[in-house]
Amino acid sequence: MTDRKATLSVGNESIELPIYSGTVGPDVIDVRGLVQNGVFTYDPGFVSTAACESAITYIDGDEGVLLHRGYPIEQLAEHSDYLEVCYLLLKGELPTAEQNKLFHDTIKNHTMLHDQMRNFFHGFRRDAHPMAIMCGVVGALSAFYHDQMDVTNEHQRDITAHRLIAKMPTIAAWCYKYSIGQPFVYPRNDLSYSENFLQMMFGVPCETYKPNPILAKAMDKIFILHADHEQNASTSTVRLAGSSGANPYACIASGIAALWGPAHGGANEAVLDMLAEIGDVSNIDAFIARAKDKDDPFRLMGFGHRVYKNFDPRAKVMAETAHEVLSELGLENDPLLKIAQRLEQIALEDEYFVKRKLYPNVDFYSGIILKAIGIPTSMFTVIFAMARTIGWFSHWNEMVSGDYRIGRPRQLYTGSPARDYPKK
Ligand code: CMC
Repeated sequence: MTDRKATLSVGNESIELPIYSGTVGPDVIDVRGLVQNGVFTYDPGFVSTAACESAITYIDGDEGVLLHRGYPIEQLAEHSDYLEVCYLLLKGELPTAEQNKLFHDTIKNHTMLHDQMRNFFHGFRRDAHPMAIMCGVVGALSAFYHDQMDVTNEHQRDITAHRLIAKMPTIAAWCYKYSIGQPFVYPRNDLSYSENFLQMMFGVPCETYKPNPILAKAMDKIFILHADHEQNASTSTVRLAGSSGANPYACIASGIAALWGPAHGGANEAVLDMLAEIGDVSNIDAFIARAKDKDDPFRLMGFGHRVYKNFDPRAKVMAETAHEVLSELGLENDPLLKIAQRLEQIALEDEYFVKRKLYPNVDFYSGIILKAIGIPTSMFTVIFAMARTIGWFSHWNEMVSGDYRIGRPRQLYTGSPARDYPKK
């Protein structure tokens, strides 16, 4: 596998560690043997640690590159559609025309939820956050398909993938419908994936919903751009949960929970909350000053990224789509969007942000598009989760199809050494 070695000195001991190369990207030093020398590596936040081997997605944060199975995200966003990207992530290759048609048809055959699942929605408080509902309902899918959850069975894994891809839009839209007290709208299989999602969100039983093709295309791009992103917090959570042999629905529910936080998938919702808090272009300078103040926890939401330190290639595509959607809807003068544009301009020029390479990320623009389409902010992370499900599933599937061990990180213990329980 490799002849190259890194040498680590610990005290008087010299330890040889193998070095491996991927197809592209940094080499890795295999530290697995270190435990035999009585030391662990220490890397909170996994800043320098590759936790697995994977052939799905590649990111070069310095160059602003994102590849799915080798294909650049910009090309996929321009030429592909979300379901084809799902197939690519899952299977490793783009489908032939025949495979593509079969895949689209198969997904359409799974869009309905078991009717008993309606009861789950009704068990939630009316004002529940849709992410809370989604976490619960997706986890509950395992209660409906328990006879087809053998993780060692490839065919069962395929069916689970189809079910998840097909049912997530129905679940997401029903979370919304429940929260506004409207009847659930059933999927329509004559529509495309994104058109169908929009009709389940905005349609009502008493009217025929006609999807706007520009908005449906923008939704499809949002889905493509969120489909996968390598070993981020939620994907790593799904892998860790899956490493114990947990069923895929439970693993995806754990990914949804991890995505919810404002530093990850919750950022698109946080962007709009922040724009509303800023309220007016005249207040921007005060908020920029707060973002720079080390004693103030406020951060400019939608700016910065752990991996992209040049630009976020997804943000480029999203920025273009945002302009298309705003002009289609005649919203170029919307006050919140004016604040967003001014913020973007200041952050791209201000020394603090330029020096730290804090560029607008995908969530900055996706939040603006979703708001323009009329989707409430509480649904933003739900839509992210829906699109990312294929990424989570593909990583889980890759892991369980190969050799894997239960994930079990170690720690640097700083608590009390052993001591005796006080005598009473
Ligand atoms: N506003 C103001 N300052 C910031 C921001 C921000 N949004 N992000 C980072 N910084 C500063 C930070 O204070 C630090 O400054 P200094 O070096 O002077 O101490 C420096 O930039 C580096 O920050 P960091 O926290 O070490 O960076 P990180 O890689 O750990 O965090 C991040 C990445 C995305 C969590 C962070 O940039 C952030 O909180 N951004 C806002 C939330 C957001 O938009 N998240 C969505 C990420 S994209 C979606 C996804 O892929 O999940």
